[in-house]
Amino acid sequence: MTSGALIGLAYIVGIIFIVGIVYRIYLYLATPAPLPIATTPAPTTVPGAAVRVAGDVVLFQNLLKYDKPLWLGAWLFHVGLFLILASHLRYLLYPVPGVVVDLQTLGVYAGFIFPIPLLYLLWRRLALKRVLYVSGVPDLGVLILLGLIAGSGILMKYAAHVYLVDVKAFVVGLLTFQPIAPPAQPVFIVHFLLVLALMLYFPFSKLMHAGGIFFSPTRYQPYKTLERRYVNPWDIDKG
Ligand code: HEM
Repeated sequence: MTSGALIGLAYIVGIIFIVGIVYRIYLYLATPAPLPIATTPAPTTVPGAAVRVAGDVVLFQNLLKYDKPLWLGAWLFHVGLFLILASHLRYLLYPVPGVVVDLQTLGVYAGFIFPIPLLYLLWRRLALKRVLYVSGVPDLGVLILLGLIAGSGILMKYAAHVYLVDVKAFVVGLLTFQPIAPPAQPVFIVHFLLVLALMLYFPFSKLMHAGGIFFSPTRYQPYKTLERRYVNPWDIDKG
């Protein structure tokens, strides 16, 4: 693949990624939620509901109640991904903020540990009959794709080295619309193409749960009883 084609592809995927996410969030916002449907027991105040959503996002509290092994696997998986992505910020920020510098060692450990919860999540989908029954190709595909991204990243770090100054020049060039050729390291090109594939798929997939969790009425609504009988507008004539 030529540099020009890769750069063009990166911009096309970038546009689809941003427009796709904005459109999905618009759909979440435009979906009416006229009835109180908070899952009980629920907090009765708005700050209480905000704390509940924060707990869901940071600690997966809701999942912890129902499935402890899955909680551990899913939590480690997401924390690992977060640390990897946070430490990757050094490829696009200049000067690199102190907190990103401090995260580098943790980011490398996270990169190593990440495949373990990932393999557990994959194993669970294939080995537990009930989970296999509700699993489709996308569920497995996305885990495999993330595994390949992490695998190619680890390979780059320890064997197929890439000059990080060139990586940063390439990424910053893309972001400032002054693109330059990518580093000529095939493993880097593979790592980058796999990330583009993930970004292309993201807005159309259930990976959007990353944003959707904030728009889930059963979680963000404070507890409220129904104050009046609710009749669908199109049923009013029928009484
Ligand atoms: C979903 C997105 C991504 C994931 C999950 C991911 C994962 C990883 C992992 C696990 C490593 C090895 C450990 C480490 O150095 O942190 C790594 C290394 C690396 N990644 Fe990524 N990566 C992603 C996106 C990207 C992007 C967008 C770029 C740049 C365009 C990039 C460039 C690199 C480079 C250059 C290394 C080698 C670091 C070194 O040699 O020290 N990654 N990646």
